Amino acid sequence: MKKCKIVCVVGTRPEAVKMAPVILALQAQEWAQVRVLATAQHRHMLDQVLQVFGITPDIDLDMMQPNQDLTALTARMLLAMDSVLKTEKPDAVLAQGDTTTVMVSALASFYLNIPFGHVEAGLRTGDMRRPFPEEMNRVLAGHMARWHFAPTTSSRDNLLREGISADAVHVTGNTVIDALQTMAARTPALEPTPGRRLILVTAHRRESFGAPLVEICNAIRTLVANNPDVEVLYPVHPNPNVQQTVQEMLGGNPRITLTTPLDYQPFVAAMKGAHLILTDSGGVQEEAPALGKPVLVLREETERPEAVAFGVVQLIGTDSAKIIAAAQKLLDDDAAWRAMAKGVSPYGDGHASERIVDVLQRFHASCS
Ligand code: UD1
Ligand code: UDP
Repeated sequence: MKKCKIVCVVGTRPEAVKMAPVILALQAQEWAQVRVLATAQHRHMLDQVLQVFGITPDIDLDMMQPNQDLTALTARMLLAMDSVLKTEKPDAVLAQGDTTTVMVSALASFYLNIPFGHVEAGLRTGDMRRPFPEEMNRVLAGHMARWHFAPTTSSRDNLLREGISADAVHVTGNTVIDALQTMAARTPALEPTPGRRLILVTAHRRESFGAPLVEICNAIRTLVANNPDVEVLYPVHPNPNVQQTVQEMLGGNPRITLTTPLDYQPFVAAMKGAHLILTDSGGVQEEAPALGKPVLVLREETERPEAVAFGVVQLIGTDSAKIIAAAQKLLDDDAAWRAMAKGVSPYGDGHASERIVDVLQRFHASCS
């Protein structure tokens, strides 16, 4: 039997989390020959996640440079990807999400006429500058894809509105829930200091660099000052634009722990142990509701409206007064907290990767 050669691309931490279940599910198929291509747009943060899932890249482009520029990263990566795909000659390429790695994977595949599968397709805010540059990346990748693996029906509807053919769109759920279920099952919750409640924080979006990140840090400082029983754990993204502000504004506070990014398993433990999560992360917005943790999203918009509609996530923005008010309400009002801590996820049932594999297997049956 001719095997279907599939290149699975990963570049950054969230792509590794969300592609890991797909890669592992494909590796278990005898009809598939899987090649894992790491662009290493992220270095340490990518390696951390691949390691925990036991995945070793077959090809590593080692792209990351300190404080990298979007244009230079894109140009270098497109040339490197083109060269790899010409050598590998895969039957299909798969990538997840909306990073530079994904947009470049789709474009390189398109130029070489290789079918491209987009995992987590159809997320949209409708604003090309928010998130920047991710909204543009996912629109471009979407228009070059042969298969669109949409996590929800509303992401499918976004694609249909853009004229994507319904035959090419498959609602699968989000693979992040597959990854999370595996990890959460073997991970006990992080215990906060006795008598304290833990607030977990992450923030890294480019559109928040500068004044919005200062607002976020001010809010965290005030919440800690006003609530003696609150402690904060903030794994700080290594992007220098984030590090500088966060270390300057929050460093040295005995109830604020700033750490390097956590490995995926300790991060899942921290989510499980948290009373409340403040984040601008896409993945954390999807994971935390599944763990029953209220989330305040530190952004002005979200491409993940489902959890907001479920009442388990609130879209707060980056204004410090608004962040303080929303978090204080959840710290003071147990009923309001419990109303958000439902433990239901609109993003998947843990079987998204199987559905993606099924679609690709049908493609293999038709081409072999
Ligand atoms: C990237 C993605 C963003 C995604 C985020 C997940 C783009 C344009 N942005 O943003 O969509 O939400 O990853 O975290 O694709 N760095 C390290 N070590 C690492 C990783 C990053 O030092 O392991 C530092 C480097 O200085 C690097 C910088 O962070 O240049 C920025 O990395 P980059 O991938 O360009 O952007 P992110 O802000 O991480
Ligand atoms: N994460 C992690 N360690 C951390 C912070 C986050 O493993 O210190 C995980 C988190 O559980 C989620 C993913 O990284 O699965 C989200 O990545 P990130 O917030 O960097 O990117 P986004 O999802 O916003 O693109």
